[in-house]
Amino acid sequence: MNVIDLRSDTVTKPTAKMREVIFNAEVGDDIYGEDPSINELEAYSAELFGKEAALFVTSGTQGNTLAILSQTQPGNEVIVESNAHIFWYEGGAACAIGGVQLHPVPGTRGVMTGADVEARIRPKGNVHFPQTALVCLENTHNRAGGTYWSLDQVKEVKDVADKHGLKVHMDGARIFNASVATGTPVKEYAKYVDTVQFCLSKGLGAPVGSVLVGPKETIQKARFWRKRLGGAMRQAGIIASAGLYALQHHIDRLEDDHKLAKKLALGLKNLGLDVDPDSVKTNMVMLRFADCDRLLAKLKEKGILAGLSVPGVIRFVTHLDITEEDIDTTIKTIAELI
Ligand SMILES: Cc1ncc(COP(=O)(O)O)c(C=O)c1O
Repeated sequence: MNVIDLRSDTVTKPTAKMREVIFNAEVGDDIYGEDPSINELEAYSAELFGKEAALFVTSGTQGNTLAILSQTQPGNEVIVESNAHIFWYEGGAACAIGGVQLHPVPGTRGVMTGADVEARIRPKGNVHFPQTALVCLENTHNRAGGTYWSLDQVKEVKDVADKHGLKVHMDGARIFNASVATGTPVKEYAKYVDTVQFCLSKGLGAPVGSVLVGPKETIQKARFWRKRLGGAMRQAGIIASAGLYALQHHIDRLEDDHKLAKKLALGLKNLGLDVDPDSVKTNMVMLRFADCDRLLAKLKEKGILAGLSVPGVIRFVTHLDITEEDIDTTIKTIAELI
């Protein structure tokens, strides 16, 4: 059975072209700084984001964790939006490894205002309070359903952070989706944050890896932490080459994923289901449904996979391996099942 896998954009398989690039990748020992494919990916990423340096890391979780470890001290506080991936899904890494406390701040569809952030910054000089060191923004925002931050919204938080001497990290696992949807170059977003983590293995379609970009000194600290955590790899140009290929060939096509997500949302809405097509900003569709488990199980029997986002909400994610025909089949199948 041909499976239509809409659980996540992480499920993509390398394309034939990408496999060719992997096959031919030049490699070396990256811990000696001698892997040409990794060096090229890091240089390309730094340039793309207008930052001094970049570090190839194993995953989005590792990139976010290194960003926190290299910009905080144990006992500091880190402001995150209350539905942030860092808060929900990273195994408490920031706390367990970095010894920092996460301070969740409710946002609107994943976005915090400058005032939201400022209200939670701890006053200095009072022995009761931990010291706030870092603010993390998620763009696009996963649990909020692929919503993006506008550049002005990022600037607003950056202004508050500057006023209070805080650093800003962007969890840009899907920043290219945000960039394509808003028309804002990633370099522009990166101007208003200190570090950005972006994933190569989500919408971009590479099999493994993320990149952390930022100032040289911060990336040097992150490199140290990556080694300490066992994340420094040797001939990893094999996978980095796929990441570079993805950056060079798979960004503009994210637009197609966004169109298909919109099409799916409209199709489900036309069936009378509880979906708001206007809320579909990038490649995710959120369907509120009374008995999610049953619908997910029925869909699975028909070869269609989706996931539970939060209780009562099914999430469908479009990506490189999803065609318009797959979306038509999904809508038709759901029509038959409900
Ligand atoms: C917003 C966001 N940040 C970080 C991550 C973590 O990425 P990884 O699964 O590569 O650790 C994810 C994964 O889904 C994500 O959605």
